Amino acid sequence: MCGIVGYVGPRDVVGVLMDGLRRLEYRGYDSAGVAVVNGGSVIGSKRVGKLGNLAEVLRHTPIHGSAGIGHTRWATHGRPSDSNAHPHLDCKGRIAVIHNGIIENYASLRDDLLRRGHTFQSDTDTEVVAHLLEEFFDGDLVGAVRRTLKVVTGAYALGVLSADSPDRLVFARNGASPLIIGLGEGETFVASDIPAILNYTRRELIVQEGEVVEVTREGALISTFNGQTVDREVTNINWDIGSAEKSGFKHFMLKEIYEQPKVVKDTLLGRLRDDNSINLRELGLSDERLRGIRKVTMFACGSAYYAAAYGMYLIRQLAKLPVELELASEFRYSDPVLDEHTLAIAVSQSGETADTLEAVRIAKTGGATLLAICNVVGSALARAADATLFMQAGPEIGVAATKTFTAQCVDMALLAMHLGAVRGTADPETLQKLGDALRELPSLVDQALNVDDEVAPVARRISKATTMLFLGRHVDYPIAMEGALKLKEISYIHAEGYAAGEMKHGPIALLDENVPVVVLATRGPVQEKILSNMSEAKARDSRIIAVANLHNDAAIENADVVFAVPETHHLIQPIINVVPLYLLAYHIADHKGCDVDQPRNLAKTVTVE
Ligand code: M6R
Repeated sequence: MCGIVGYVGPRDVVGVLMDGLRRLEYRGYDSAGVAVVNGGSVIGSKRVGKLGNLAEVLRHTPIHGSAGIGHTRWATHGRPSDSNAHPHLDCKGRIAVIHNGIIENYASLRDDLLRRGHTFQSDTDTEVVAHLLEEFFDGDLVGAVRRTLKVVTGAYALGVLSADSPDRLVFARNGASPLIIGLGEGETFVASDIPAILNYTRRELIVQEGEVVEVTREGALISTFNGQTVDREVTNINWDIGSAEKSGFKHFMLKEIYEQPKVVKDTLLGRLRDDNSINLRELGLSDERLRGIRKVTMFACGSAYYAAAYGMYLIRQLAKLPVELELASEFRYSDPVLDEHTLAIAVSQSGETADTLEAVRIAKTGGATLLAICNVVGSALARAADATLFMQAGPEIGVAATKTFTAQCVDMALLAMHLGAVRGTADPETLQKLGDALRELPSLVDQALNVDDEVAPVARRISKATTMLFLGRHVDYPIAMEGALKLKEISYIHAEGYAAGEMKHGPIALLDENVPVVVLATRGPVQEKILSNMSEAKARDSRIIAVANLHNDAAIENADVVFAVPETHHLIQPIINVVPLYLLAYHIADHKGCDVDQPRNLAKTVTVE
């Protein structure tokens, strides 16, 4: 995915664009570029690498204009390079285009345009759009965009600037690439995501699929691809500005780890009643409909998949329903069996992940009721779903998910309890205990953060490891996988999350004194089993790092290092146990000098298959 921004107004245009791109850099950081209209010409600058490279160029050679567009890229077609950086220009250099998504038929369009005498400067799919606009432009930029959209296929958010329209930008959206308009007084902002406009305005218009937007200082005119005017309601953004800033933390990821107690509290707000019953009326799914469910099918990607895996255990136990869980990228090819009695649950922080959205389409086609767990109001997922349980995590800027995973797990617990209560399958005493555990969860997660001081020196000692294993059982198995994913993502150390009982079936061969093993060994019905697995690893000379409850000698005895965490109900305990794992991954990566917030090769949201 990429980040796109636009601005028309009286401020320093490039300043606004660069500020927006800085806040969208999590979306891609292979290259960045801006273009503005100045004195009847399009001028711009673009550079491979992070935004800082472009900022350096602009510091030496500033540019100014009346309207502008900007882009930060995650490469799909064409390797990261200056020439493949956006914006892309037509042959005459009078039209500039930025793009998030993929133009699927670009190869045939390019061949055709080459035959017509156009010359290309890049290997990107995007550049065909600039040349098509050149073909279709007759003084009316919006008309040229509409004609171009008739020719291109794919998923995109496009932004267009023309030397002949100095105070006007045109944007268009098709598919899951998000696009929002920020309305100011005598100025208008455009962006892929809210943090880019949060400093300037709280009034937002969400551009939907199949829409074109004409942007001027006065505001935005939205219409369908066919030219029908759309009357879109203004949404007020309630995200806190500080939540998109580092607020004194060295990295966004560390700040977001420390935001977990607040996120848990916000996610529970209004949903856990004083009597410990669950209020999920916001879903709009009647009790009768929930009682009619015969099967749950869940799909997601990455960390969201592990949150779904945690939810699977809870739904099975409390709602007594068969639960299938699939990676969204596999779901589409797995011939899923669905019907109107299936509850499909899609979990996605962004609500933009292409694989998840395709799985959503399949689930809906199969007749399932679609429930989304999502962080972004107005996202493609939230709009497609029959019901959405929002995560209340606020913006997450670090590319590695942390606080949003925690929020997803809390949503999962609420949902499982709700299903168990409505269907009459959960033991009321257990529901009471889980309600108590959720109520004290914000404070326990806060206490778990105290382990930070102990994690940092351990992280320094093991940062030279080339492989690490994370072991967990039952509800802690997804946490082991999440811990391993986090370490891989930001420190580039190979790590595997394993169901501890599976070790003896192969992976134990990896163990020796050079392979640290992190064991989730807090109290619960499978603790004895996990302690045996810990002994097996210890006997192979591995250094054992245990996440264990305070004063739990049985767990502490065999460990070389213990990260002590407060104790709660074993079904809720994983939401506490993930805290030291996040801190461990963070400190190892920071000690190694890795780019914690923007790890290599990654983008926050993957909007391509
Ligand atoms: O926005 P989504 O929750 O759908 O994203 C899913 C994954 O791409 C995401 O969790 C990814 O694995 C993160 N890099 C995890 O840190």
